[in-house]
Amino acid sequence: MRMRNPKNKDLMLESCDYYYEDNFDNNNPIHLEIGMGKGQFILNMALNNPNINFIGVEKYSSVASVAIKKINEYKPSNLKILIGDIANIQDKLTKKIDTIYLNFSDPWPKERHAKRRLTSPEYLAIYDNLFKGKPHIIQKTDNDNLFAYSLEQFLLYGYTINIVSYDLHNEDIVNVETEYEEKFSKLGIKIKYVDVSK
Ligand SMILES: C[S@@+](CC[C@H](N)C(=O)[O-])C[C@H]1O[C@@H](n2cnc3c(N)ncnc32)[C@H](O)[C@@H]1O
Repeated sequence: MRMRNPKNKDLMLESCDYYYEDNFDNNNPIHLEIGMGKGQFILNMALNNPNINFIGVEKYSSVASVAIKKINEYKPSNLKILIGDIANIQDKLTKKIDTIYLNFSDPWPKERHAKRRLTSPEYLAIYDNLFKGKPHIIQKTDNDNLFAYSLEQFLLYGYTINIVSYDLHNEDIVNVETEYEEKFSKLGIKIKYVDVSK
């Protein structure tokens, strides 16, 4: 962290060494997690894959500050963060991204909130602007209704399903667990997974 005694947490986060400004210092692919929460997935992905750059986006600074504490223990040079709703900070990422991860996104079960789901056509249109080349999204969820909705939206939006699983932990798919994934799988809930591109 550059600021020792920040008066305001948002200011502290925006001044931290992990805040994504415009580029990494190499041309490696960039993978983005939207809704990184407390950061377990994106940190472990960055540590396991030094030749990929990662950006974690989180809407709430209070949640992102927990992620930053963890990141500070390891300081990987291939991991940056952004704070805000992806819809409001998309300009920083235009045509930079190779893969998007949507992990255990809020399901927004009420129909009148469908536009807030991170796989709604409104958000899929935002992602179109972020991809550098071929769009590629990987989603994991515990939620059957969100999963069914997402599969339908991906297909309607022109994506092809590359891999789909209704029980990820019983598949031979390389997987890094998120905080929510650990919580739900301990409860015996099967994890749904889909990899799509277009
Ligand atoms: C249910 S949590 C899952 C956290 C983490 N991905 C996991 O699997 O443990 C969803 C997170 O996404 C964040 N989020 C929801 N909508 C978002 C958006 N439009 N832009 C950025 N973050 C968002 C929420 O604040 C929350 O921290």
